[in-house]
Amino acid sequence: MALYLRLGIIIFFVSMVGSVPRENFKTCEQSSFCRRCRKVEHGKTAYNLLLNTTTQNDSTLYVELYNKDTGVYYNVEFTALKHDLFRLHINEKSPLYPRYEVEYALQDHPQVSQLIVVEKTATYISVANGKNKAILYASPFKIDVYSGNQLVISTNARGLMRFEHLRHKPEPKPEQPGHADQSEQTDQSEPAEQLDQQDQTVQQDQKNEKIENVELNDSEFPGDGAENDPGAWEENFKNHHDAKPYGPEAIALDFSFPGAEHVYGIPEHADSFALKSTKQSEPYRLYNLDVFEYEINERMSLYGAVPVLYAHGKKATSGIFWHNAAETWIDIVSSADNNVVQSIVNFVSGTAKKPQVDTHFMSESGVIDVFFLLGPQPMDTFQQYAQITGSAHLPPIFSLAYHQSRWNYNDQEDVQQISDNYDKYDLPLDVIWLDIEYTDGKKYFTWDERKFPNPLDMVRNLTSKGRKLVVIIDPHIKRDSNYFLHNDATDNGYYVKHRDGKDYEGWCWPGASSYLDFFDPTVRKYYMGLYDLSKFKGTTSDVHIWNDMNEPSVFNGPEVTMPKDLVHYGGWEHRDVHNINGLVYTMATYDALFMRSGGTLRPFILSRSFFAGSQRFAAVWTGDNAADWEHLRISFPMCLSLSISGISFCGADVGGFFKNPESELFIRWYQAGIWLPFFRQHSHIETKRREPWTFNNDVLNIVRESLRLRYSFLPYWYTLFREHEVNGSPVLRPIWAHYPTESESFAIDDQILVGDAILVKSVYQQSITEVPVYFPGEGKVAWYEIETMEKYGAASLVQIPVTLHKIPVFQREGSIVPRKMRVRRSSVAMKNDPYTLVVIANQQGLAMGNLYIDDEASFEYRHGKYLYLRLLFKNNKLTSTMLQKLANYNTRSWLERVNIVNPPKGITKATIYSKALGKADLEVKYNPSNNVLTIRKPGINMGEEWIIDLIA
Ligand code: NOJ
Repeated sequence: MALYLRLGIIIFFVSMVGSVPRENFKTCEQSSFCRRCRKVEHGKTAYNLLLNTTTQNDSTLYVELYNKDTGVYYNVEFTALKHDLFRLHINEKSPLYPRYEVEYALQDHPQVSQLIVVEKTATYISVANGKNKAILYASPFKIDVYSGNQLVISTNARGLMRFEHLRHKPEPKPEQPGHADQSEQTDQSEPAEQLDQQDQTVQQDQKNEKIENVELNDSEFPGDGAENDPGAWEENFKNHHDAKPYGPEAIALDFSFPGAEHVYGIPEHADSFALKSTKQSEPYRLYNLDVFEYEINERMSLYGAVPVLYAHGKKATSGIFWHNAAETWIDIVSSADNNVVQSIVNFVSGTAKKPQVDTHFMSESGVIDVFFLLGPQPMDTFQQYAQITGSAHLPPIFSLAYHQSRWNYNDQEDVQQISDNYDKYDLPLDVIWLDIEYTDGKKYFTWDERKFPNPLDMVRNLTSKGRKLVVIIDPHIKRDSNYFLHNDATDNGYYVKHRDGKDYEGWCWPGASSYLDFFDPTVRKYYMGLYDLSKFKGTTSDVHIWNDMNEPSVFNGPEVTMPKDLVHYGGWEHRDVHNINGLVYTMATYDALFMRSGGTLRPFILSRSFFAGSQRFAAVWTGDNAADWEHLRISFPMCLSLSISGISFCGADVGGFFKNPESELFIRWYQAGIWLPFFRQHSHIETKRREPWTFNNDVLNIVRESLRLRYSFLPYWYTLFREHEVNGSPVLRPIWAHYPTESESFAIDDQILVGDAILVKSVYQQSITEVPVYFPGEGKVAWYEIETMEKYGAASLVQIPVTLHKIPVFQREGSIVPRKMRVRRSSVAMKNDPYTLVVIANQQGLAMGNLYIDDEASFEYRHGKYLYLRLLFKNNKLTSTMLQKLANYNTRSWLERVNIVNPPKGITKATIYSKALGKADLEVKYNPSNNVLTIRKPGINMGEEWIIDLIA
């Protein structure tokens, strides 16, 4: 048996070597619902609003929709929400059984606002929500949404809506009423699935209970063609059979964005940040999958899905959030798709079209539930999305520092050595990671006692240096009768089930595995208990968690995941909930870690799979990339895309997971990696060791400089994450987030803004000596290279020479960035260290920035134990004032230095005033070579308010 399993896994991997095994993953044409939705003819919508059915309350308009081809009625709800959003919800009026409504993605119930009916005629009804409005047209059905007076989103304008009503299978067998009879499909491929067909006992689930109470009245519906699709009632892919007991149930809707030049978002794809036209290719797919050796410039699905899409043009930004957890495909067509000849003809004839992007969302099941984000500015739009799906809690500061991982560190001596070597080579490090091999035979919550006989000692040795440990916990459970977790799960019915009620069995790292059903609150409660320190022996509150393989990855499943016709808690098919599987899993882990510390400590979790809302529970990384230049390049666009889609805490395996990076690539990856929020080196079990000292001294020295730079910026990262938590601003931003009219920047994705003050250009070509850098601000904003303080920005595009020693990074004039320049072995060791402020005065002599300080680890900040400082340089005075007067935190950190770049002329001294110090003179020194005035040792505690006056 063991040999059999091992062989299976080897075969699986052999088939995975080389490039992405495309044939293992569906195309739209191979997915019956996508095929049907994509074939809907433009401009022929069968849907009409029945305006005479309209009713309303304070926030919502209710109206029926009718499909004249099928005779099916739908309920439409159009709701005004606070913060400039609308929500559109469409479901069948009388579905045969409930259709799945997504849970867990939204933070709370979205707050409603007042909806005013402005005008109602026989053909349309217009409504307003503050300054925004919407017009719902009856026939053909269309909804135009306006931000202020500007039309920004037009829904069903192309008439691509499709809402497949639930129906009985044609020719139902009279002796077996209800949809249980539809499970009689033929399939010879999978033994587990044959069981499915033999046993007709279907779970007493929500859907079943409902269906028994409906009368069969199929004859009312002349059909919409779905019945005739061979994939409507059963579907085969490779040797996998999907029983599809509920038949066709797809939904689709088109959204046009007049004025938009590009659309962005809908991660996760290894593609450019500005999404591409799918006119001649596959649509973008959202279906969480474990794609080994994924390639770049692809619309194929990856591990996570966030169905939020932003449209941006010079005049407005808007977006839609498609709240659906089933498999989804998205087509994109842009007005720029016109061929060159056509564009010239249009231009010459004066008929050049205004920019517009058209999109088409297609999902396999569920209901239509869409949020319209109305901007108007980019940052408004991102914040609107955060209003509904939430933001990340402030990460403990160690998690923003540097992480060292590999698959695997062999034993506890190995871990100790890594930590010692970081000290030996004077490299800062906060976290060491253990991958799956630390366990006893891939049984999570256990240790391999031969290799890790004293995990508690190992952890203590790390924490004595201010370091932490992260261990992996995967969702598959080894089917081993000597494993307590398997026995508990089997005895209590905690596993995901086949339709016949039997436990599903698939293959993953341990061999035969089953999967806890995290949709069941009882299972989640049980799982949370496993993290209790008395239960998970060898761990302490300094051990944090990595959740991997949670798409879920099933090596022998269809498309390497779970069959869609499995059944979860509540009777929902896996089909309905697939894309939130990873979300629900990390939610349970988050609750577990929260509970473990009695709600006092901030958990840190890294997850591979995610959905909208995952930011509330976990950081994510971009999975199994490779040690090549292209994968280095794509890490910026992938994290940018995640960042504007709510998930700021993103990183990519530094150095590349597969293969071995050569020195130059390794260096460049560190130089770029320090500018992504999650910063971890990680690699595949078959790669060579690649800790920084395994390279030559030159490489080691450059990597050390990069690490030190990251640590010196930790106060800035920390402040940005606090601001993300409070107002939903992404930590990484595209240039157009702050320079929305500069169309030259709309497609730039090898440069990122970290907050609004730091501009970074990734260098991802070998042996390159100069790179083009775009400086936003149309020549009116100066940018200063962070080390030399050399000034740029007078021209928008500049070739910047690069050496191996650094990549181009700039700080914006007018900003103040807080830093800590005494870099130590870990962030914890730097907690009480003094701050340096880097002030860059603009042409008017102004600069501004914020600094957030707290205990860096606990939730005490939620009880007012923090400092939030506004730093302002104006009229030759630098002031620090509390932005939240009621908050307080006793910090031991003080102000060590202020560097003022581009200072006022002729300053000879400075004086500081504060309650604590009274008035004191300070030493100043001007360096003409870089135009920096340094104020040494103001010495004031950061918890004080103060003014430093510069005197000429
Ligand atoms: C897949 C993950 O993506 C990778 O990072 C990890 O090392 C392996 N699983 C083994 O756990």
